[in-house]
Amino acid sequence: MAGIPHDHYEPSSNGEKWLHKRLPIVGLMYDALFIPTPKNLNWMWIWGIVLVFTLVLQIVTGIVLVMHYTPHVDMAFASVEHIMRDVNGGAMIRYFHMNGASLFFVAVYLHIFRSLYYGSYKAPREVTWIIGMLMYLLMMGTAFMGYVLPWGQMSFHGTAVITGLFGAIPFVGESVQTWLLGASAVGQPALNRFFSLHYLMPFILLGLTIVHIWAFHTTGNNNPTGVEVRRTSKEDAEKDTLPFWPYFVIKDLFALAIILAVFMAIVGFMPNYLGHPDNYIPANALVTPAHIVPEWYFLPFYAILRAFTADVWVVQIVQFLSFGIIDAKFFGVLAMFGAIAVMALAPWLDTSSVRSGRFRPMFKWWFSLLVVDFVVLAWVGAQPAEFPFDWISLIASTYWFAYFLVILPLLGVMEKPLATPATIEDDFKSHYAGTGGTKTIVSPAE
Ligand code: HEM
Repeated sequence: MAGIPHDHYEPSSNGEKWLHKRLPIVGLMYDALFIPTPKNLNWMWIWGIVLVFTLVLQIVTGIVLVMHYTPHVDMAFASVEHIMRDVNGGAMIRYFHMNGASLFFVAVYLHIFRSLYYGSYKAPREVTWIIGMLMYLLMMGTAFMGYVLPWGQMSFHGTAVITGLFGAIPFVGESVQTWLLGASAVGQPALNRFFSLHYLMPFILLGLTIVHIWAFHTTGNNNPTGVEVRRTSKEDAEKDTLPFWPYFVIKDLFALAIILAVFMAIVGFMPNYLGHPDNYIPANALVTPAHIVPEWYFLPFYAILRAFTADVWVVQIVQFLSFGIIDAKFFGVLAMFGAIAVMALAPWLDTSSVRSGRFRPMFKWWFSLLVVDFVVLAWVGAQPAEFPFDWISLIASTYWFAYFLVILPLLGVMEKPLATPATIEDDFKSHYAGTGGTKTIVSPAE
């Protein structure tokens, strides 16, 4: 695909020319900073920058925490308390890191649902989407392993439950579980390897972030209309876009400042609001907490995991047809990973010729229901596995799969989309027309 035509970096001084011939790094940075960006991007396009910021925040605070943390079953809990009480600024750094994980997931869910609504996953941005999905999986793995490190009651028993899921895999489950834990039960080997991986994975995430950004710089950003930037000439492209610096950098920083004000208020005034009090009790293998509940960001998928019990007829049929190999527990595990897999396949399941949900009257309703469904799943994931919550989670889980596997493919065929604007410039002008000139924005080309 041809890129959006725009001015490229031209080295001017002799020194720049010398470096450019050997390593065109300044040109690379120039092109990334001044990349033509659709000028009609709305506030839902800020979450990418929030994610980049949060990833850096997690790495920096994490490195400081590691300087004082001890990955030993007898000392881990005490070393976290030591960070909180004795280390200068330790409590603040820990609370930044703890709540930073929540900010990361708030941002990623909004980023994902933004992409789902505006069809950012559709061709030609499938690779950006798939890399995003890999990053999401990696984020979940990192967050899970981080939660083990304070070695509190939830850390310990949560690890036992989640690694126990791998034990449900037919034939090899027990070996896989032992391999993951490095022993037959949760203990020192598990803590060691989770610590090692928790430190490593954010750097892989950082590498993937660069590839993710590279991918959408190749295709250009999507935008709320889903209409592509004109590539017919540099002049046309300039009518649809504005350079990333300074226009979008300033907008993104403004949004980041507001989000950080809220984040600081949570870190400062209610830092344990999103956590579980049981994790302030040292791990004890002999005392199991009454309710083992994962962190809020895992709840939707945890609800799907628990929804498919042995009473569900689909589970019974599958168990019968598979000669008992796929039992209810393994079915739940497959459903949980399947829920993410069907989302990853959205680019190929969505058959609509129109990209943005803004011009899809029926899609809008089904999508709104998906958002409600996600919230319901998160809520029900924290409830006890009994009536009526078991029914609610079953219905909500079924809708999740139905949306991707049935509704998305059918809508593309059945729905009559509205007319889309011919160009991004048209959309932009219609949006800012009649505002008395106060909102008139003049692009560099005009
Ligand atoms: C650490 C995690 C992530 C980081 C740092 C990140 C970063 C970014 C940035 C900076 C952008 C451009 C600005 C924007 O659209 O907001 C972007 C775009 C995009 N991201 Fe992510 N992202 C992450 C995770 C994800 C995930 C989990 C998905 C979904 C599976 C995803 C899908 C997309 C898509 C489809 C676009 C293109 C949107 C467009 O072209 O307008 N990203 N990402």
